[in-house]
Amino acid sequence: MLGYDDPEHRRLRGLVDQAFQRRMIETMRPMITDITDRLLDRLQGRKDADLMAEFCRDLPLAVICAMLGLPEQDHARFRGWLGGLKDTASLGAVIRAVPGVLRVVRHLRRVSRPGGGALPEGLIVALRDASADGQMLSEDELVSMIFLLFGAGQETTTHLISGGLFALLSNEDQWRRLRSDPSQLASCVEECLRYVSPVQMTKPRFATRDVVWQGRQFRRGDILAGFLAAANGDPAKFEDPHRFDISRHPNPHLSFGTGAHFCLGFQLARVETAIAFERILARFPNTRLAVEEGAITWRRRLGIRALVRLPVHLAA
Ligand code: HEM
Repeated sequence: MLGYDDPEHRRLRGLVDQAFQRRMIETMRPMITDITDRLLDRLQGRKDADLMAEFCRDLPLAVICAMLGLPEQDHARFRGWLGGLKDTASLGAVIRAVPGVLRVVRHLRRVSRPGGGALPEGLIVALRDASADGQMLSEDELVSMIFLLFGAGQETTTHLISGGLFALLSNEDQWRRLRSDPSQLASCVEECLRYVSPVQMTKPRFATRDVVWQGRQFRRGDILAGFLAAANGDPAKFEDPHRFDISRHPNPHLSFGTGAHFCLGFQLARVETAIAFERILARFPNTRLAVEEGAITWRRRLGIRALVRLPVHLAA
């Protein structure tokens, strides 16, 4: 879906659009809250935690698995297989990550076949039985769709939640503000999207003809990528763009992209992140960073803004 133009793109997107509409995502709130609370139960009574490894990675994985209809006992296996993707800064690291990704694809292919173990109420079974323009998806199309949803639904949201928590905890006035006024939750999530810009750039686009754009000559076939993080820090659009301000308004960030490929999961990502913040604030309102802000490091990854760890002192 991500790699096609219309009409192919529209055909494939039409199959999943409905499941990701706001109305449907709103019905998932109780399920997402329940998963969030169960993950936070594991931290109850603890003084220290690495929220990245112990919460931020697990929540989006558990939610997208529940949505797709992948059984809970698969989570640990997925975590192991996808571990190599944490670091893709060098060609060697990318090559080392490939076997794990292939295992995920093989597993998703197996699960998506009738009797393969996907839960009947999930999207995998719904997609297998759905037809687009009167045609069923081929097995390869089905597996790529599931893999796209599975992948896009995780890394992105993990880094929005962790990067957002880091922004809040390193700007204590903003954390206190959110704690005393939960009505700021929605605009806080938008500011985290802008300030963190977890997906830093779009996939490549190709010029379909020679064109002059923004004073530059592009030739047919030239490759372009939109740098969303740069747009989100544009001083012509955002006053004092390096300031993290949870009540920023307006906030026309481009973190979900734009145009035909605008993020399918934007409602899900917003709701998941808002619930994560809300439950952490309710259960551990006095949480602090466990290290100096300058000791927090980011992964060297192209295209994703990803923290290595998020060590915190937890406090109710
Ligand atoms: C913080 C969370 C997220 C961010 C920042 C994000 C960002 C983006 C961006 C920038 C694009 C456009 C890429 C391009 O134009 O090249 C995109 C597309 C997409 N996103 Fe997300 N995403 C997030 C969460 C999700 C979630 C939870 C899902 C759900 C499974 C999802 C599914 C998709 C899909 C399927 C596409 C391709 C849409 C198409 O080609 O029509 N995303 N996302």
